[in-house]
Amino acid sequence: MTTQKKIYEGKAKIIFSGPRENTLIQYFKDDATAFNAKKFKVLAGKGEINNLISEYLMQILSNNKIPNHFIKKISNREQLIHQCKIIPLEVVVRNIAAGSICKRLGIKEGKIFKDPIIEFYYKNDELNDPIVNNSHIISFGWSDKEELFKIKKISLKVNRILKKKFEKISISLIDFKLEFGRKTSDDSLVVADEISPDSCRLCDVNNKEKFDKDIFRYDKGNLVEAYKKLLIRLGII
Ligand code: TMP
Repeated sequence: MTTQKKIYEGKAKIIFSGPRENTLIQYFKDDATAFNAKKFKVLAGKGEINNLISEYLMQILSNNKIPNHFIKKISNREQLIHQCKIIPLEVVVRNIAAGSICKRLGIKEGKIFKDPIIEFYYKNDELNDPIVNNSHIISFGWSDKEELFKIKKISLKVNRILKKKFEKISISLIDFKLEFGRKTSDDSLVVADEISPDSCRLCDVNNKEKFDKDIFRYDKGNLVEAYKKLLIRLGII
């Protein structure tokens, strides 16, 4: 692990100061949490896999000119990233009904949405990340109208690109969560945090095999083995 100064420790990652101004090091832990950390387990190998998958997916974003915080992978568990001020929102894009939307709105799991649905959640563990709307976000100053428009546009573009990427390997991108930040160097908006099977729902189009954290959330099998299969399907290893 880097000897740089620890700045922040989250549930699945640790952030250290970076080697240069306006950079940070993001370290992927093996810790798995669900339901706001009510459920917790250390799953050996998860951090290394998520580092690889997030690197791969962020590079796809870069190749498609979608600004993001990723600079380069520097070790099995570490990435050099642009330092950002994180916007306190979890932006969820849904293609197919699963998870919390089914409970909240009584929708049948598996319903295919005509158009992707975007939801915002306020990142606040004490409040259990409550769902919020545009008015809350603008009124409380978490973002403004212009930036929020960009966030939605980028989120839908990420969805189009990743959905297509996964369809090519017969995997369905059910939903995913993005976080955004503003780079400390120039205040520009970027996709931050990680994009990994911890923050997506993914399943095989044909046999419905799952490749995401629902395996841990609902005790559906061996998460690390499933993530390894995803690495192979994506051609990363
Ligand atoms: P949800 O159905 O539980 O609201 O989750 C929607 C998507 O967001 C799913 O792909 C998992 C991801 N997610 C996170 O990345 N972090 C979270 O804290 C939660 C609740 C969901």
